[in-house]
Amino acid sequence: MRQRMHSLLFIEMKPTFLPIVPATRRETTSQKMYLVSRTETFAKLFFIVSFTGLFMYVALAFYSFHTAYTTVSQVGKDQDSSSEHDDSDRFDKDLKYILLWTDKSLKEHVNLEGQSPFIENGCSEINCYITTNRTILNQDVRNFDAVIFNISLLLNWSRWPIHLPKGRSQRQKYVFYGMEASDDHPICNLLVDNFFNWTWSYKFHSDIFTPFIEVKDMKGKVVAPNSNVLWSNSLTRTTNSVINVTKTRAVAWIMDKCEILSNKMLSILKLKQALKDHNLYLDIYGCGHFQCPQEDCKKMLQRDYYFYLAIEGAISEDFVSTEVLKAYDNDVVPIVVGGADYIKFLPDNSYINFQYYTEEKLAAYLDYTIRNPSLYKEYFTWKKFYTIRKANTFNGYCQLCKLLNDKKKFNSFSSYADFRKWWFTGSLKNKCIPKGAERYTDLLGYLNDSSRIG
Ligand SMILES: *[C@@H]1O[C@H](CO)[C@@H](O)[C@H](O)[C@H]1NC(C)=O
Ligand SMILES: *[C@@H]1O[C@H](CO)[C@@H](O)[C@H](O)[C@H]1NC(C)=O
Ligand SMILES: *[C@@H]1O[C@H](CO)[C@@H](O)[C@H](O)[C@H]1NC(C)=O
Ligand SMILES: *[C@@H]1O[C@H](CO)[C@@H](O)[C@H](O)[C@H]1NC(C)=O
Ligand SMILES: *[C@@H]1O[C@H](CO)[C@@H](O)[C@H](O)[C@H]1NC(C)=O
Ligand SMILES: *[C@@H]1O[C@H](CO)[C@@H](O)[C@H](O)[C@H]1NC(C)=O
Repeated sequence: MRQRMHSLLFIEMKPTFLPIVPATRRETTSQKMYLVSRTETFAKLFFIVSFTGLFMYVALAFYSFHTAYTTVSQVGKDQDSSSEHDDSDRFDKDLKYILLWTDKSLKEHVNLEGQSPFIENGCSEINCYITTNRTILNQDVRNFDAVIFNISLLLNWSRWPIHLPKGRSQRQKYVFYGMEASDDHPICNLLVDNFFNWTWSYKFHSDIFTPFIEVKDMKGKVVAPNSNVLWSNSLTRTTNSVINVTKTRAVAWIMDKCEILSNKMLSILKLKQALKDHNLYLDIYGCGHFQCPQEDCKKMLQRDYYFYLAIEGAISEDFVSTEVLKAYDNDVVPIVVGGADYIKFLPDNSYINFQYYTEEKLAAYLDYTIRNPSLYKEYFTWKKFYTIRKANTFNGYCQLCKLLNDKKKFNSFSSYADFRKWWFTGSLKNKCIPKGAERYTDLLGYLNDSSRIG
């Protein structure tokens, strides 16, 4: 009885919590009563209405008492992470609550609230509730099933502990979210070791794996990125009908970010020179180089260029951003430059990996390919078997909701003891030395950390 009364009240008192689940699962007392009353006399209806009123009154009184009681009992509770508390009675048992940890000092881009995002995005499990409001579950962050920490916050905190949740429950999962290239964004603070229970990133070995792009077969099944992908073995056959080639320029590169590592730029200029020796051109657009013509860059790429230099912003393990789509979307062959094992990401014979050539050899190969249209056209055979697209960005939230519903995974212990090493596989020592630290505490933080930096 207590249970039922409470769930009815929950709906009455806090409309924002109203779970959108099939009516059959949420049949409340009042709904049942209503069904009965339809078939009964007016007198009975009158009785039921007054009874409901009385019921509500009693329930309201109970609710006030209960709230007051829990508030009082909360005050005395210590906020130590090991102290467990029973919330099973207080919130909707059907819902998993996800807190997006945010920081008032940073501009927030996240615009997700409630259960509807999971429904609207067609997740397989929809009984999740996401919010940035830390206080909705009795003002206690320990009541959330999962807390997501965005890497952009972690990197912007100079004094960590003051930004962290007050108190941590042993049953809840702290989720690391990072879609920035790890090589450019190492995390130095020691506090991240043994902090996260789950990871969400573009890396294969994440609990929630969310690549930037996806390759589907003609049945619409996602086949890559996947470490065990088996590409069709017909990808080296020439198929004349896939594209008509009327291109005139060899290689294009559109710079989005003007900062580029000098050794990378050096290699590009070397390639440019090597191509010139074959009477071919590498044209750079943006950042003070050529400007895209009036129409737009995409049309120009498609019409004029054989190859596109798809250079990743950072050379990081498993990091393949949407940069390659500039080529695939516009019938240009990508020359990939990145840290991923591309076999796991892109169809065989659909790209050229810069890594396997010197600048001179690559220029010679491009020249030969341009002069042999049937060889060039082979690079488009993938179009008969696959589509390559930007991945759905909400997919990670769907996966998180699914994981929270996986009783075995949710209830079993998981922790990233060596998180800094998991995220950044290079030498932390080189990355974490504060160059020209402005505050003494920045240096102290490093000195303290460095005992464990590998
Ligand atoms: C957070 O939720 C509480 C109810 O628990 C509400 O009073 C408050 O206005 C909410 N804050 C924001 C910023 O929506
Ligand atoms: C993380 O932060 C970035 C940059 O502020 C933002 O674009 C992204 O939506 C955030 N993602 C999540 C899951 O919080
Ligand atoms: C984080 O801090 C760095 C430097 O402290 C700054 O450049 C960057 O814009 C900040 N990020 C956000 C999301 O505010
Ligand atoms: C290629 O050109 C031929 C003849 O002009 C045309 O019939 C065919 O549809 C074109 N194919 C594509 C993929 O544009
Ligand atoms: C989450 O990780 C923390 C820190 O390692 C650990 O204390 C806690 O027991 C873990 N919780 C779960 C549910 O795995
Ligand atoms: C460094 O470590 C010492 C001793 O463990 C501690 O007292 C001090 O607060 C730490 N400093 C910083 C900046 O973390």
